[in-house]
Parts: sequence; structure tokens; C-alpha cells
Amino acid sequence: MVHQKVLVIDFGGQYSQLIVRRVRELGVYSQMVPWTGAAASIREEKPSAVILSGGPRSVLEDGAPTFDFGEVEEIPILGICYGMQLMAYRLGGKVEKANEREYGRRELGPAIAGSLVGGLSGTQIWMSHGDQVLNAPPGFEATSSTESCPISSIENPDRNWYAVQFHPEVTHTPEGKTLLRRFLFDRCGLHGDWTSESFIEDSVAAIQKEVGDQRVLCAVSGGVDSSVMAALMTKAIGDQVTCVFIDHGLLRKKEAEQVKEAFTAYFQPRLITIDARDQFFSALKGVTDPEQKRKIIGAEFVRAFESHADELKDCTFLAQGTLYPDVIESGSSTAAKIKTHHNVGGLPDWMRLKVIEPLRWLFKDEVRAVGKNLGLPEEMVDREPFPGPGLAVRILGEVTPERVQIVQEADWIFRSELRARGLHKDIWQSYAALLDVRSVGVMGDERTYQQPIVLRAVQSEDAMTAQAVALPFDVLEHIANRIVNEVSGINRVLYDLTSKPPATIEWE
Ligand code: XMP
Repeated sequence: MVHQKVLVIDFGGQYSQLIVRRVRELGVYSQMVPWTGAAASIREEKPSAVILSGGPRSVLEDGAPTFDFGEVEEIPILGICYGMQLMAYRLGGKVEKANEREYGRRELGPAIAGSLVGGLSGTQIWMSHGDQVLNAPPGFEATSSTESCPISSIENPDRNWYAVQFHPEVTHTPEGKTLLRRFLFDRCGLHGDWTSESFIEDSVAAIQKEVGDQRVLCAVSGGVDSSVMAALMTKAIGDQVTCVFIDHGLLRKKEAEQVKEAFTAYFQPRLITIDARDQFFSALKGVTDPEQKRKIIGAEFVRAFESHADELKDCTFLAQGTLYPDVIESGSSTAAKIKTHHNVGGLPDWMRLKVIEPLRWLFKDEVRAVGKNLGLPEEMVDREPFPGPGLAVRILGEVTPERVQIVQEADWIFRSELRARGLHKDIWQSYAALLDVRSVGVMGDERTYQQPIVLRAVQSEDAMTAQAVALPFDVLEHIANRIVNEVSGINRVLYDLTSKPPATIEWE
């Protein structure tokens, strides 16, 4: 089935991804493309509508990001913030630098009835801009204002072109979804034909077409993404799938067993488990540098695959659980490298595998919905994200089996206490990390000189930003007591309050 599609042209705005999410939440398929490739993408994708995102630059600057409105003569457009300024500026209106940057909550002033913003006056909107539109371009009407912004929206309904200075995609604009709904359904006449059922149906057909009668290797980690990917592949091509699970000894307590059980119980693919624990521990011996650890783990994954060359040689495709945020991040030329994310890139030479990534257009919550739709159990689909290098990035300093066991035990206590109180439901990730310092304590009248455990629990939408969870103090205190009493080698427990940025979610 061919779905209606909305292209979001990204001008580098911090909320561009959110626009895509909001449109999809309304059941319309949406994708983000960089402004530099906008014309080619529009010709290729033939979108039903285009949304121009916000951005940090000024349209008045030399070399500012731009857009060729000639490419979209017949296509409805919604410009947001920078998108509105660009529309006004390029189509003959007037844009000027405002005296002061306007940032934060505002109230929408009088709005023209029947316009895209009609009936929304008095509602809260979120502003974040330095320039402002002073005159609407010819053919356009100014449809609203705020106290500090003389023109906060414009439109040319004959062309189906609209623009707003505020951000309808953020939750601080409570009626933002009403506005997007009006644009997509009333003005563009879209149907909202994109659901997880239709995604599964389309993907199954696409996988069958691409793979034919060849074999596919699915590298699975027990995490949500690779599990849902493997279930989708199995639904599409059944026993042509071989799943490979590498137990590197860096998983959480009982995790390896749970993965094997769940896979066998729910979609019975051909599952090869490689016990590579000794191999990983000897490669990591004496290594303390975080980047070096990550690189060693990536290389050891390859060696583990190599050790099963005979069983895997007949595979033509490698299926990966890559998600849309990974695709967006790797497409950005400006993003600085923070960490080397492990994946199964750089596979051995004999594995000349073609990569297939059926989830590359989905966000995490969409993957979870697909997983539920495929009949996977909640405990599999709602798992917290877990990094590929596993506990190695939560053990500062050398990774040894003994230190892994300490983290596993502390992590088990922490997360089971949260689960027992239902606190896990609003948490994106929670874990224990082991530091490589020692401190003095006293236990049973004896001096101790042992390591501290750090507990971390964060809330996040997409792991790009995160905030520490305000866990009740008595719960933290109870958990800290349990850890110090039950996990040998630990005499102190800390709770990490830092958000991302400036920290990251993992410690390494
Ligand atoms: P950071 O620590 O960068 O993590 O804030 C963001 C999210 O990514 C996960 N993470 C990884 N996932 N391979 C993965 O598959 C990795 O190397 C890796 N490093 C971090 C982390 O758990 C969080 O959800």
C-alpha cells in the first residue's frame, strides 16, 4: 500500500524530529530530510504536504539555509518559525531582526475566524525566535498576532500555504495538535492511513520481495529493537531466518536465559547462542579506557561471528535493528562524536552480507507498538534500552567477571525494588554502575575500604536528552541499605542527579 507522506524539511531546528513524531501520531507517515537535499527528496518522494521546520539561523544572513518554493507549486506547505520567516522573506514579505529574542510561553492574540489558527486566540503558544515577519508576502494574509509579535501566523489558502511563528509541535503549545490536525486533514485532505498494522503489512511484503528465497542472519541482543526486528523478519520469511545471540558475559542478571526463553516461546526462529564470555573477558583484561573498551567489544563481536562461520555462511542478508534516530544522527554532518556506538558493522570478509534494516524509519515507541502488534509479550517489548557493549560501559575501570557480578547484583536489587513499587513505568532507563575509586567506611565495627555503586534512573523521550528521576528518598535509602548489606565489595551508594546534557545516560 502506498501511504500519503509528509516531508519535514529540516533547517537545523531543535524540534524538527518532534514535528515528524507529531505528524505520525496523527496517523500520517512523515519523514525528515535536510534542507540541502529538499528539492531532490520532493521530486523523489512526491509528498502530499511539506512542513518547513524551525532553525537557528536568520534568513537575513548571507548563506542562510533556503528553500526553492518553485519545487512545491502544487503542494500544501506549513512553515514553522524559521519556516515562516523563510516563506515570508522568499515570497516578497518583510522580515526584520526583532529588538529582543522572544523565547518561552506566550498567549496567542486575536486570530481571524476560519483561518488555520481560528478559534485558538487566548491559548498558550511556545515561541523561540530572533527575527520576525513585519509584512505578509503578496497573496498572504496575516491571521494572528501576540503582544510582542505583530504577525504570528500567515496564510494563502488559495495555494494551501500556511505558516506560524510559534511551535505547534511542542507540548508547551497545548493546541498545537489541533493546528496540525487542521492542516493535515482539513486543509490537505489527508486520511491518516499509517498505523502499526499497516507498517507490518507493508514491511512483510517489502522483506519478502527483497529477500526472495535467500537466508537472513539477524543479530539479536535481547533488546527491544533487535527482538522486534527478528519477529518481523520471522513473520515475513519464517525459517529463512537465523538469529544469532552472542552472550558476552556483560548482560544483566538472568538476562541471557530470559532472551533464549522468550525467543523460543514467542516466535521460534532458528536461534544460535554463542557463549563468548571467556573470549570477551580475556580481550578486556587490563583495559580501562572507555573508547578502547567499546572498540574491543565491537571487534570481539566479529570474532564471535567468525567462530560460527560454517553455520552462517549460507546467509546473504544481515538484518539489523537500526532505528530512525540512528539514521537521523548519522546523517548529520555537524554532530560531534560523543561515543563510538557499537554495532555489527565491520563484519568479517567472508560475510559479504547485504544489510537490511526494516525498522529504520521508526521511533522507539513505534517499534514497541509494532512489537505488541506482532504478539510479543510486554516484558520483551517494554524493556528498557540496553547498550550493545552491555555492563562494560557501566563498570568504570577494568571489566572483570567479579566486577560484573557486583554490578549485576546491585542492578538487580535496584530495578526489582523499582518494579515492586510500580516506579519503573515512568522510567526510560535505570541501572547501577560501579566506580573505580575506593572510600573508607565502617561495617560491624570494622573499617572498610571499598567501591561505590552509582544508581541512575532517567526519563527521556528518545535518549537525545534525559532528566534524572525524582525517586522518593525513602525508596533510595532502602535500596542503598540493601545494596551495601547484600553486595560484597560495596560500602557506599550514590544517586546520579545529572541530566543529559551535560552528562550522557551511560557513564562511559
Ligand atoms: P548515552 O550514554 O550516549 O546513551 O546518553 C544514549 C542511549 O544509547 C544507549 N547506548 C548504546 N546503545 N550501543 C547501543 O546499542 C552502544 O554502544 C550504546 N551506548 C549507549 C544508552 O543505553 C542510551 O539508551
